[in-house]
Amino acid sequence: MLMDKYETPCKNAITLKKQVIVFVASSVESETLQKHAAAASHRARSSPGIPLDTVHGIRRKGGEVWHRGSNDEDWCYQTQFTCDHKCNAPEKWNHVNGDCGGRSQSPINIVTRKTLKDERLTPFQFKDYQKIFRGVIKNNGHSVKVEVPHLSTVSGGGLPATYKAVQFHLHWGTNGGPGSEHTIDGEQYPMELHIVHMKEHYADLTTALADPEGVAVLGFFYESSSSANKKYDPIINVLRSIKSTNDNTSLLPISLAQLIPSEQNMTSYYRYKGSLTTPSCTESVIWTLFEQPIPLNMDQLRMFSELKFQDGKPMVGTFRPVQPLNGRQVYRSGGAVILASSTLLVAAIATALGLSQPI
Ligand SMILES: *[C@@H]1O[C@H](CO)[C@@H](O)[C@H](O)[C@H]1NC(C)=O
Ligand SMILES: *[C@@H]1O[C@H](CO)[C@@H](O)[C@H](O)[C@H]1NC(C)=O
Ligand SMILES: [Zn+2]
Repeated sequence: MLMDKYETPCKNAITLKKQVIVFVASSVESETLQKHAAAASHRARSSPGIPLDTVHGIRRKGGEVWHRGSNDEDWCYQTQFTCDHKCNAPEKWNHVNGDCGGRSQSPINIVTRKTLKDERLTPFQFKDYQKIFRGVIKNNGHSVKVEVPHLSTVSGGGLPATYKAVQFHLHWGTNGGPGSEHTIDGEQYPMELHIVHMKEHYADLTTALADPEGVAVLGFFYESSSSANKKYDPIINVLRSIKSTNDNTSLLPISLAQLIPSEQNMTSYYRYKGSLTTPSCTESVIWTLFEQPIPLNMDQLRMFSELKFQDGKPMVGTFRPVQPLNGRQVYRSGGAVILASSTLLVAAIATALGLSQPI
């Protein structure tokens, strides 16, 4: 079960044993987590009969919420949680904000054979995505974020209105390992870009989030390529100067267009209704995930792991685990490919060749 998998490993030995098994079977778990679980399990074994709860002097009840002191934002990613430094990891976010326990949460795993082709999901119209701006990039303690001037807009693509770009940020793994928030048929990409937009007539995101269709996020996956993507130099070259939380620096002039695939390569995408992937987890987001990934080489991807969380630990694993669909339909544009299983492919080829008689 989802909750089991991400339970925090500061408890008794029996639960821990179960977790270790789950971790081994799971491909998306971070190494760090496995280490924590193994270490905690070892401690549990070496003090027989004494539950960890007692050892650490922690009283656990149902849904206890950990606080990191007087911090304004009391939530963290799973990679930040340790038994010595507890914080509200994703399975506790619903205690930080009730919306995080809602029924239309993001991210999700997209099962391509269950997506429904929708003819209304035509190509997008991008306006002023080529416009050059001077942005400020900031380590906000959870990610790196760039506020963009509210000039570039997106419409079409089955969106109910015109939306303007507000900011973009990224989610990543550890040293170029799995780190995207959304997954496609279970595959987790090394990184994911979110360009956050709001309906054109709103002045700020808070207002837009009160509208169930107020926000549109364009999501892009990254893939590791053999050569460096020079168009990302303005961002990657300044990461070393914003390692600490709240650091910021100005970027060399860039455009949104230079960070994403060409328009011709953005006609294949998935669409569903969901939420912000960090608290407050507000369910006001029309999600678009583009099929075509953005190439970065391993050295470029690894640079993001040089950033630091507030406590000085490496900023890695900055993704929320996938959330239940709860009956939501995911749509795909005309161009998006269903990844058919080899059985289906063989059957399709056999049919095409007129070999559909039982053998
Ligand atoms: C950038 O950091 C400086 C302090 O070093 C601060 O005065 C300024 O407001 C920050 N800018 C942004 C956009 O966060
Ligand atoms: C679209 O993507 C393909 C790779 O999938 C690439 O070869 C092609 O050059 C791209 N087209 C444009 C116009 O960038
Ligand atoms: Zn995001």
